[in-house]
Amino acid sequence: VIDQKVKSLLSKMTLEEKVGQMAQITMDVITNGKDRYSSDEPVALNQQRLEHALVKYKVGSVLNTANNRARTREVWHQIINKIQETGKGRLNIPVLYGIDAVHGTTYTADATMFPQQIGQAATRNRSLVYKGAEITAYETRASAIPWNFSPVLDLAPDPRFPRQWETFGEDPYLITELGLQMIKGFEGNNVADPYRVASCLKHFVGYQVSVSGKDRTPAYIPDHVLRDYHLPPFKAAIEAGAHSIMINSGIINGVPVHANYQLLTKLLREELGFKGLIVTDWGDIENLHTRDRVAKDHKEAIMLAINAGIDMSMIAYDYERFCDNLIALVKEGKVKETRINDAVGHILTLKYKLGLFEKAVYDLKQYPKFGSKEFEQAAYQTAAESITLLKNTNNLLPLKKGTKLLVTGPNANSMRTLNGGWTYSWQGEKVEEFAGKYNTILEALTQKAGKENVAFVEGVSYKMDGKYYEEFENGIEKAVKAAQDADAIVLCLGENSYTESPGNLSDLYMSDLQTELALKLGATGKPIILVLNEGRPRLISKFEPKMAGILQAYLPGNFGGDALADILFGEVNPSGKLPYNYPRYPNSLLGYNHKPSENRTVMEGVYNYAAEYNPQYEFGYGLSYTTFKFENLKLSAEKIKANQELTVSVEVSNTGSREGKEVVELYLSDLYATLTPDSRRLRGFEKINLKPGEKQTITFKLNQKDFSFTHLDNRSVVEPGEFKVKIGLLSKNFFVE
Ligand code: IFM
Repeated sequence: VIDQKVKSLLSKMTLEEKVGQMAQITMDVITNGKDRYSSDEPVALNQQRLEHALVKYKVGSVLNTANNRARTREVWHQIINKIQETGKGRLNIPVLYGIDAVHGTTYTADATMFPQQIGQAATRNRSLVYKGAEITAYETRASAIPWNFSPVLDLAPDPRFPRQWETFGEDPYLITELGLQMIKGFEGNNVADPYRVASCLKHFVGYQVSVSGKDRTPAYIPDHVLRDYHLPPFKAAIEAGAHSIMINSGIINGVPVHANYQLLTKLLREELGFKGLIVTDWGDIENLHTRDRVAKDHKEAIMLAINAGIDMSMIAYDYERFCDNLIALVKEGKVKETRINDAVGHILTLKYKLGLFEKAVYDLKQYPKFGSKEFEQAAYQTAAESITLLKNTNNLLPLKKGTKLLVTGPNANSMRTLNGGWTYSWQGEKVEEFAGKYNTILEALTQKAGKENVAFVEGVSYKMDGKYYEEFENGIEKAVKAAQDADAIVLCLGENSYTESPGNLSDLYMSDLQTELALKLGATGKPIILVLNEGRPRLISKFEPKMAGILQAYLPGNFGGDALADILFGEVNPSGKLPYNYPRYPNSLLGYNHKPSENRTVMEGVYNYAAEYNPQYEFGYGLSYTTFKFENLKLSAEKIKANQELTVSVEVSNTGSREGKEVVELYLSDLYATLTPDSRRLRGFEKINLKPGEKQTITFKLNQKDFSFTHLDNRSVVEPGEFKVKIGLLSKNFFVE
């Protein structure tokens, strides 16, 4: 039915109307700023600008919040209503509004903010990820926005890259499993539902593996690697029916992905069968000319991108140039009108599927749960299950009531650092303006431990001027002095918020000032609990031996301070597991699934080169306040055929004295293969809750997909031979014939 509606609508549209549908502008363009590039009066729409874009140029899509500024739901509704009213045109086509609600709805301070994706990955809890997405969909649709630029399905093995925190980490299976939950939470069974939104898979494909580790710089990815590691999460999401996809702003093997016909049309459309909407990333058609130099001018850039398979251009500002040039290209025969019809067909289909033609904006009264306690509880629970205990010397943790604490570090008293980027604004710099309602780590600890038991000296501070990396000394010696009166120190280090290129780094070590603070406090001999609040693992090897306890908090959101305080004082038993390898040295940024040759020593009498695999903490690592025992690993057979299933079971019991959650992870190694095999690959995980003394049997099923890998000719193959299954410290071998 929708196909027919789209066909009939297309037949009534002029070329100008069609091209307008393919244009997406940022909201600043239609507000009252001094010009479209610097909107500083964010609240009011500018009628003249609005009409110029939406009526004269018939622009069909808008993104962002003006000036990236938070506002109330009511004001937001008025704005979207006005946009829809003005934009519908003679054919009553609704505007498609999109936003980055990547860890909660980002434009208003009363929305529910969850941990960023990297923390959600650490929970290993599928239902929490689903729930977070469902709540985000509810609050986003309540804001009259039906399209969310989430989830990020990028493989993120490189902590140098400034967007690792926006991902589910370094493993394709983990990304696939949690990505599917997030999509289900956003889209439900029907995106026309007023409580659901369309998801947007990002960033197709191979975004986070640039050679330099810097954003939007070249990557080189062999085809079989692309297919084995980068594609599976996208493939699964497409099969699950995800409605849109955003393209990688980078360059792979010399070709910018936005101009890559092989990737966008041959692979994504024809091979993977993607039927949804393909949108560019910010300004990326223009970048083909100005940055990547594969097009001699803007017009040629448009031609390359649209002919490669792009449906919608996130322009974001100069829509006149995009529309005029694309119309001219069609008239000159350089872009076929059939390609335009195809692109606009995808856009209109999504607008129909979202039910926007019937109703684009629902009454706020339909959303009584917005920002409710129930939603906040889910965000808190996700934060609590994400925080990962990495070190606990002599069971220093949990802390006893009455312990006198010195709380210190630049991340101790900041809501901005708890939330990270995409929170009320692009770089997260507006967070402090809306912080009052939630607890920083310091505030949460003070509430929990009592004012009389908490001293605070920041020691090192961030400059809150929008830049994440500027720090200044703010009382390191004072902190050292204050440590004398404390029983323990809670040292909160990490990074300020950032996203995209502002997070590019030249040095992965924790900053010099923070290292100095850690070392000087370390010299006091007082027990230190290091809390890491960072978007990626900054190296801590210079001071790690001086830390008695270490917790990775990631970017845990508005309830991260409370969750952390509850873990430190033992009200919550930690259960997070690392979604990446925490590296120890800058020249050793290896994944857990590295090749065997990355890990060898010089053997006596044998000419060999040493290579070190020695991460600070491994993928999957995370301690608990209780202990678990794994036993009776069983396989259903010792020999199977490639197309047979293998059942693996293991018994897990809680051998400690308190209730706790444990993650059971199954790793598979192909011992010998004609392409050097990975040392191991995650092929299954389950999170369980056990009371003291309780035992549970966990069963996994492995099949051909798990035994296979992609060979140089891009075929998926299973090579007969010996495999090893590993769960915890237990392992068993079997043969595939
Ligand atoms: O969705 C984002 C993308 O991840 C990075 N560039 C801007 C887009 C829209 O805000």
